[in-house]
Amino acid sequence: MSVDPEGLMIPSPAERIKALALSAKVALLTGASAFTLAASQPIGLATIRVSDGPAGVRGAVFSGGPVAVLLPNPTLLGASWSEDVLAEAGRVLAGEARARDVQLILGPNVNLPRSPLGGRLFEAYSEDPLLTGKLAAALVKAVQELGVGAAPKHLVANDSETGRNTVDCVLDEATLREVALLPFEILVAEADPWAIMASYNAVNGIAMSEHAAITTGIVKQEWGFPGLIMSDWFAAKHAGPTANSGVDLVMPGPRGPWGDALVAAVEAGEIDEHVIDEHVARLLHLADRVTGDHPPAPAPPSREQLTRLAARGMTVLTNGDQTLPLNRSQHVALIGRHALETIGMGGGSAQVTPPYQVSVAQGLRERLGEQVTVVDGVEVRTRPVAARGGFLVDPQVGAAGVQVRLLAGDGTELERRHAPDATTTAGLDEPYDQAVATVVLSAVITRDGTAELGVLGSGAWCVRIGDIKKSFSLATSGRNFGVELVAPPLSTEVYDVSAGTLFEATARLGSGFDAFSAAGLFGLIGRPARRETVDVIDDAVRAAADADVAVVVVGFTDEQETEGVDKSTLHLPGAQNALVEAVAGAARRTVVVLNAASPVIMPWRDRVDAVLWAGLPGQEAGHAIAAVLLGELEPAGRLVTTFPAEDGGSPAWSVTPVDGVLAYEEGRFPGYRGHDAGLAPPPAFWFGHGLGYTTWDYADALVDGRSVEVTVANTGLREGREVVQVYFRPASPAPFPGGGPAGPAGDPVRLAGWGEVMVAPGASARVRVAIDPLTWRKWDKKVGRWGNVGPGGALIVARGLGDVRAVLPLP
Ligand code: BGC
Repeated sequence: MSVDPEGLMIPSPAERIKALALSAKVALLTGASAFTLAASQPIGLATIRVSDGPAGVRGAVFSGGPVAVLLPNPTLLGASWSEDVLAEAGRVLAGEARARDVQLILGPNVNLPRSPLGGRLFEAYSEDPLLTGKLAAALVKAVQELGVGAAPKHLVANDSETGRNTVDCVLDEATLREVALLPFEILVAEADPWAIMASYNAVNGIAMSEHAAITTGIVKQEWGFPGLIMSDWFAAKHAGPTANSGVDLVMPGPRGPWGDALVAAVEAGEIDEHVIDEHVARLLHLADRVTGDHPPAPAPPSREQLTRLAARGMTVLTNGDQTLPLNRSQHVALIGRHALETIGMGGGSAQVTPPYQVSVAQGLRERLGEQVTVVDGVEVRTRPVAARGGFLVDPQVGAAGVQVRLLAGDGTELERRHAPDATTTAGLDEPYDQAVATVVLSAVITRDGTAELGVLGSGAWCVRIGDIKKSFSLATSGRNFGVELVAPPLSTEVYDVSAGTLFEATARLGSGFDAFSAAGLFGLIGRPARRETVDVIDDAVRAAADADVAVVVVGFTDEQETEGVDKSTLHLPGAQNALVEAVAGAARRTVVVLNAASPVIMPWRDRVDAVLWAGLPGQEAGHAIAAVLLGELEPAGRLVTTFPAEDGGSPAWSVTPVDGVLAYEEGRFPGYRGHDAGLAPPPAFWFGHGLGYTTWDYADALVDGRSVEVTVANTGLREGREVVQVYFRPASPAPFPGGGPAGPAGDPVRLAGWGEVMVAPGASARVRVAIDPLTWRKWDKKVGRWGNVGPGGALIVARGLGDVRAVLPLP
């Protein structure tokens, strides 16, 4: 018992636990709903609301919910290599969480995209465990200082999506410790996250929601993690093994594998009641943390701030004859579907509903006016998205989007509202007294001509387009939770329509709480019918030939960069390569902007003048890209993933389990480490590569104790920001081959530290980079504990390992 400032007696956690019956305790350990934790009045426990995720706080609802700020995606933030940037992003996330009454953010995602095919690569900070851990720690600290918890995820080895609910990731202890677990270990040591989310996959034969050796043995005992470990959504399958493994909380609720089964297991003596008490204690610890005294919530971010954050990570890959930044007097042909429909985020649980998304076309037009000609590009999707670009308008409010009406079973209207993105979620966590039985979507078509029209969402549909009427049903496979909620089944057809036609669709939902048939995302699809690729390319070529410079914006979409599905290739979807080749053949100068988080294969790389990697920049995408193209802001990012030269050209490539097993054959050599060791051919662009808008000379590098010092001189004409990177290459060169699940032998090269500096043109600066003590650590497989790499080796000062500036041998 303690006493609060008002003199009230506050029971200690142990007293509160004692006050609860077994069933009441167990009831707290499964979510109360999809995104809330259970409350308990007798012990004064209030509801804790949780929300995804890494690029914005959408609120305690599924995607398609209320409007939320969309930040640059984590990979783009990571490419800043700046803990300050991550801390700033963390403060924005915390402000968003507080504004939505959310107490715990489900993120950051600190899995490492071992293969560039990983569908959730866009949620990850980098392929390097040290960089990932440090950047994530900066973000988590900033979030939690403002009184909001963070739940880094997914513990552990959830590095790809194929078979994500069942895959068994097989990796040896050294790879697990030195690579996959390292970001979590750094987070626990430096940021003390209030929670951690366990992953769907298994590690070495044991599901991560039942992995006592990792969850309890390593995380809780060895690292001393005092926080709460929660399951990923629907990951927990059994009562005893999950509760005994160290998972404290099963999500979502209200139903789940614990409840009565867990009570029975305790009563049968299969589980000690102390185990339950320990879980409740950790939950109460989280509750105490979220309800403590917190500093005032920060103000919402400004547009300038979001633009600046996005621009910080943008990375110049090539820049022949200093084509970039563009000269403002040039006439620009801006080409590509991504120029008009710029992609600000990836798909899945990280999606939010932003207030707006600025396209590159909008950003450049605002700056250049008549100087820019915008030309649509080739088709980039196989699956149409909900209506965009004002093709449909809400019949009541007259604005772009649709009118949504949610009806109860007896026809009572529960809600009527305008949905600017033409979609809505229904059937999940709703505040109405009655369940939603029917979703009615209506819109007016704004253009004459041939159009692709349809619906998305599962249910029994009745669609009316003017006088045409159709009825059909759509259903999900029900297998891939999360993904099917945000990418539900759809159906479209091509119609000849005239402006002013009413388009109305009614979906009757399935019955009962079945996330797949009674709930999810619903929307109207409406857009002009697709044009022939040759015609699109012809238009682009003509515009390119007429301009001083062509800027082609290409990329992936949320069909490739999404939760639930991995990529099968790093080639751009659709005929985008043909479009770039054709434009490059016709334009005086060609700049390619990559609007994608993942590495892209660029067959045309040597035929274009400049390539800018812009990532997925969030809601201010178009302003950030335009500001960078025109040199208002320097794209001083450095790559956080290695770009292979060809499909298959990475140390770890396949993400397809064989007989349920995904063998981490690259061992401790994922990404640049494996390229350096000869496990894969030289990449197109190394991890750490990035030119910025100036040039740099390095001189007088030396090792000083546990640091490296070097003088960097800005030899260009603009002020610039340099990221000085130091790598450690151990003495024993990494011998290959040596694969197998045990991983290659030898010790990999590794990032050891980095520092940043702003330098005026013609000036120089002495930079000191501290070598992280973790650099020397090595897991000793024989004795099962940490040891050190042997003496010798060298510290390498490099701008990515493809541009080494100094090699400093160690004694
Ligand atoms: C994802 C998690 C997410 C959760 C809740 C899962 O499908 O793997 O990252 O936090 O859904 O939306």
